[in-house]
Amino acid sequence: MHDIIRRLEEKRELARLGGGQRRIDNQHKKGKLSARERIEVFLDPDSFEEWDMFVEHRCRDFGMDSQSIPGDGVVTGFGTVNGRLVFVFSQDFTVFGGSLSESHAEKICKLMDQAMKVGAPIIGFNDSGGARIQEGVASLAGYAEVFQRNVLASGVIPQISLIMGPCAGGAVYSPAMTDFIFMVEDTSYMFVTGPNVVKTVTHENVTHEELGGAITHTTRSGVADRAFCNDIWALLYLRRFVDFLPPNNKEKPPIRPTEDPSDRAEPSLDTLVPDNPNKPYDMKELIHKIVDEGDFFELQPDYAGNIIIGFARMDGSTIGIVANQPTVLAGCLDISSSIKAARFVRFCDAFNIPIVTCVDVPGFLPGTVQEYGGIIKHGAKLLYAYAEATVPKVTLITRKAYGGAYDVMSSKHLRGDVNFAWPSAEIAVMGPKGAVEIIFRGDMGDAEKIEDRTEEYRKRFANPFIAGQRGFIDDVILPRNTRVRICRSLRMLRDKKLENPWKKHGNIPL
Ligand code: HXC
Repeated sequence: MHDIIRRLEEKRELARLGGGQRRIDNQHKKGKLSARERIEVFLDPDSFEEWDMFVEHRCRDFGMDSQSIPGDGVVTGFGTVNGRLVFVFSQDFTVFGGSLSESHAEKICKLMDQAMKVGAPIIGFNDSGGARIQEGVASLAGYAEVFQRNVLASGVIPQISLIMGPCAGGAVYSPAMTDFIFMVEDTSYMFVTGPNVVKTVTHENVTHEELGGAITHTTRSGVADRAFCNDIWALLYLRRFVDFLPPNNKEKPPIRPTEDPSDRAEPSLDTLVPDNPNKPYDMKELIHKIVDEGDFFELQPDYAGNIIIGFARMDGSTIGIVANQPTVLAGCLDISSSIKAARFVRFCDAFNIPIVTCVDVPGFLPGTVQEYGGIIKHGAKLLYAYAEATVPKVTLITRKAYGGAYDVMSSKHLRGDVNFAWPSAEIAVMGPKGAVEIIFRGDMGDAEKIEDRTEEYRKRFANPFIAGQRGFIDDVILPRNTRVRICRSLRMLRDKKLENPWKKHGNIPL
């Protein structure tokens, strides 16, 4: 028996070493943790249960029969984050560059299947040279098996990708189908074709970093949701992030007791909106002041800044926040911001997370760039997402809510449950200046007359009371009472039940 136990320990030791100490040292030299170290930092201490440590590849070509490493380049298993179950796979770059073989894919698929059966999130740490070149089509098949499971799991369990090294070729499409992508600055990149292929085909000279680094994907492409300065920060932030989410689509997000009273008044909000309607203010100040302990986990903070999205808690429960940001493009909706917010709204809806929408939107961004780019179709995504959402929806209009953008931003007409406005709200078909230029076109030569008409329009329409008269706004509230009013509404909505008509699936304008 002793011999058997010793042999088991030796086998385990071999698997733990992955591609060997030299390659682990190389990984460290690049500022990266090893696959196992990442799991250790991410999960609660001693909670990791590893599976398939002894799985090996089956490739016999190119001398691979003599180069088998137990585990085959991916560490898989389950554990807990703050006591809550999660499934994790962590690709091991020290084993054939973390490349995906048939067996490597089978390990990931087995984990995904189990995560689906028990209803718990799955989190992947990606650090891989892509398909295992020696295995050819078998590794492509492996990828496709993972893709298929990504799609079936979508909207059932949260799926999160943390990109911690190379991620190239078709390999990017599994992360792309997960709910959130986080990256590590300087050491991770994602692209469909690398710089060499780009040079050959388009003659562009571009570095790995420029083409698919963390900065590129969090500022230009919008592919990634956040970037962190190193592995440790990324993993610690991910622990915080997972805490906001429910384990699956049948359960509610966890409630975290808070010392922050739900009836906390915030008098400073009474002066947040400037008297001059064209002067911007920072919507993030409002968000930080109304959520529990000011704790807001923003997503895509450096992409499409005219809309803000992220998770927070109110009264201890997770909420998704969508808010126009007047400091960027005056808070207009455009293609990027519509897509950014639409996907977020759909995630919240799929996972029972109430949505709080803060509105200050002058309209859709005009111009040929937007029209040629398809703002009609892309703006419709946000409209569709809000209209389809059945989770509790609480809306607050702080200032402008003009035109189609008023309708889109979780209006009463799209089944907003509770729609508040501050006294400074201006709810109308368009801003006073634009409206007067159209309906009093004949007076355009007379500046004084136009000014009078504009003032008249402003007084008549640039307020929340016309909408209030119709019941489109449930109440006009004092800014200082925003937190307590939203908390009470969310409490009232806790057991909301609403279902859409049966269908195979809708046809969101893609
Ligand atoms: C097998 C691989 C590998 C791969 C890397 N290695 N990629 N082995 N299959 N895809 C091995 C290397 O041979 C090396 O082995 C070790 O991993 C580390 O690689 P290095 O090149 O030394 O590391 P580095 O300089 O950091 O460069 C990393 C890299 C580069 C940029 C990822 O290795 C690379 O370009 N690899 C190939 C990428 C690629 O073309 N993949 C296929 C994409 S097509 P030793 O023994 O020396 O340590 C694809 C299709 C998927 O993925 C389609 C799905 C639909």
